Amino acid sequence: MTERNAGIIGMGHSYPEGILTNADLEKIVETSDEWITSRTGIKQRHKAAEHEYTSMFGTAAAKQALERAGLEPTDVQLIVCATTTPDQIMPSTGALIQAQLGATNAAGMDIFAACSGFLYGLTMVESMIRTRQIEHALVIGAEVLTKYVDYTDRGTCVIFGDGAGAAVLGPVEKGKGILATKIRSDGRYEEQLYAPGGGTKLGTTHETIDEGLHFFKMKGNELFKVAVRSMAEISAEMLAQAGLTVDDVDIVIPHQANQRITDAVASRLGVDETKVYSNIAELGNTSSASIPIAMDECIQSGRIKEGSTVLLTAFGGGVTWGGTVLKF
Ligand code: UT7
Repeated sequence: MTERNAGIIGMGHSYPEGILTNADLEKIVETSDEWITSRTGIKQRHKAAEHEYTSMFGTAAAKQALERAGLEPTDVQLIVCATTTPDQIMPSTGALIQAQLGATNAAGMDIFAACSGFLYGLTMVESMIRTRQIEHALVIGAEVLTKYVDYTDRGTCVIFGDGAGAAVLGPVEKGKGILATKIRSDGRYEEQLYAPGGGTKLGTTHETIDEGLHFFKMKGNELFKVAVRSMAEISAEMLAQAGLTVDDVDIVIPHQANQRITDAVASRLGVDETKVYSNIAELGNTSSASIPIAMDECIQSGRIKEGSTVLLTAFGGGVTWGGTVLKF
């Protein structure tokens, strides 16, 4: 069996219309536009309404990605949804998106790797296409984080926003597509970013809810350093594996966690800041959705075009991290 290259052949994205600005947050918690802007780079984030949920945005992004790839929903054999904020515990959000799309020839599943989930999906699907187990797949990052955020905790509520991005993957010509990709985790850092309630360990009880254990809890300051180190290291490793240097890269798209993290990763890599994409001011941190949304924005604006070399890197709760080098 001859192996083949796998790459992205269409992308799309979607987010809720609702917007929560820094001025809105000033009315909810003890914070200021000045603090949020200078410490994170975020000016606003999109926020789902009460009746909106994760699969709605995942499906909208996936439909757009399929249209742009020139494919029907029935042309994909796998739908991988990376999410930490599923519609419900069961079935998977991937299966719910499958139903909403009418992708009757696919298997739907979720990946639970926080902000690195999209790169986890790319890495798994790449090998399935390369080894000819499947022809086409959707990898989606979709989140409604604002429903898991404690709006009395100023350390987390100012950061997160909602949205979804999707990529259709398929076979591409040699020398193109995913050139190197790797994912990692270290569960010993569990308590740096976690939502302890609602699972089999603590259950869902009146006590867990009263204590807010279903909400995200984050030791932001400690995570910051691990995030910068992990993303810079895996990026350098993936570039070396692809036989490239930072000078060969046209655009770097890091997970949009915090503008200061993005700047520190760029500085460690020695990459010119004009090559590093950021949309955190408008969208905040959308976890697994941040990379595919940013990529699609770059494709639509022409910053990523045929022949572009793109470096992706992510870091998130778990902790998890990853790096991917692609040629379009
Ligand atoms: O998505 C992937 C995983 N997540 C991350 O990678 C997030 C990484 N961490 C971060 O982005 C940053 O650590 C934060 C933005 C979360 C926090 O910024 P920081 O510069 O690390 O602040 P800090 O936690 O060290 O807090 C500094 C001060 C504290 O006050 P004192 O103790 O010095 O008086 C905080 O209580 O800032 C205070 N503070 C705030 N003040 C106003 C924390 N949050 C806020 C806030 N508004 N929203």
